[in-house]
Amino acid sequence: MKLDRKEILKALETITIAGEGKNMVESGAVANVLTFGDEVVVDLVLHTPAMHIKKRAEDDIKKTIHELISTDAKIKVNIKVETPEKAEIKGRAIPGIKNIIAVASGKGGVGKSTVTANIAVTLAKMGFKVGVLDADIYGPSMPIMFDVENEKPVSITVDGKSKMKPIESYEIKMLSIGFFTAPSQAVIWRGPMAAKALNQMIFDADWGELDFMLLDLPPGTGDIHLSIMQSLPITGAVVVSTPQAVALADAKKGVSMFMQDNINVPVLGIIENMAYFTPEELPNNKYYIFGQEGAKNLAADLDVPFLGEVPIVQSIREAGDYGRPAALQTASPIEAVFEEITRNVVQEVVNRNESLPATEAIKITTMAGCSAVKKN
Ligand SMILES: Nc1ncnc2c1ncn2[C@@H]1O[C@H](COP(=O)(O)OP(=O)(O)O)[C@@H](O)[C@H]1O
Ligand SMILES: [Mg+2]
Repeated sequence: MKLDRKEILKALETITIAGEGKNMVESGAVANVLTFGDEVVVDLVLHTPAMHIKKRAEDDIKKTIHELISTDAKIKVNIKVETPEKAEIKGRAIPGIKNIIAVASGKGGVGKSTVTANIAVTLAKMGFKVGVLDADIYGPSMPIMFDVENEKPVSITVDGKSKMKPIESYEIKMLSIGFFTAPSQAVIWRGPMAAKALNQMIFDADWGELDFMLLDLPPGTGDIHLSIMQSLPITGAVVVSTPQAVALADAKKGVSMFMQDNINVPVLGIIENMAYFTPEELPNNKYYIFGQEGAKNLAADLDVPFLGEVPIVQSIREAGDYGRPAALQTASPIEAVFEEITRNVVQEVVNRNESLPATEAIKITTMAGCSAVKKN
């Protein structure tokens, strides 16, 4: 059997790589195709390091050639990842803070803050230096979840400048909009106001060295989010959703907000919260109260990594209310759940940092349709 290079190229035209509108030949991803008898070597150049996209591209190529050309073809796929030139960051980089991870959800009440708090303590247990910035102006809940709701950050002098000193709890440094507003007060802030307050909590605070800063964003995809992304160089975003259709629809909007060309905050992945209920006395029974694997399927549809699932467990809720994140409970199933998710998040941050330049703060020149959002 002798394979024909042109026929193979034609077959490859039926494959599209996630995130690129055109087929892999047209988009330039196929750098070369060589044939030797029944062997074919396909050289691919991709702009994403995401393992699952590389894997899918390779699988698709093999499957397509086997189906359209010959089941006997011996196929080798070489993938080279080409990263964009490291751009000069003009936005304000934050000295000492290595990675800012935004935790977002389309809908409120899906467990965004619970997940943020538990990932934070898990990162700290893994040995990272961690800060949490509670940016949820509608319902700041970090002070309660970390049992510091009655604390007030004090001002200290660092190198002759006054700085806010973050509150510390369970080895996590934290600042929250909640420290500065009465708990009963419904805070209706506009985006620029929220962004200004957050800017102060980041740039005028003494965070010291942090490996990770987790940003608990308000729910939704409104102008507040744009303002925050405008002012902060966010490394990547994690989107939390329940498996329920209404939550998924909003999570999808959240993911597309980050992925928008002119915003371009890499989505590190989706976490499914309240994935199923397990009664403590029947640990092997799983009840899919909000539907099964909705967020997992959404991740597959949107071609973003699935970072893991968190069950509905009474002790997670109790721990949140009590002010001691459940993942701190050593040798518990909850600890294991959050260890796996946190490892996946760290892995995605590593992949992202290996492949992409630092995210620039973006400049929003008008709000209309976000079409005038541009890089600094
Ligand atoms: N996996 C879970 N199991 C049990 N209760 C949960 C779980 N995740 C969140 N909750 C509870 O659901 C409520 C909403 O969670 P929260 O993290 O405040 O949501 P969000 O920040 O998205 O508004 C809280 O009372 C919290 O304790
Ligand atoms: Mg919250």
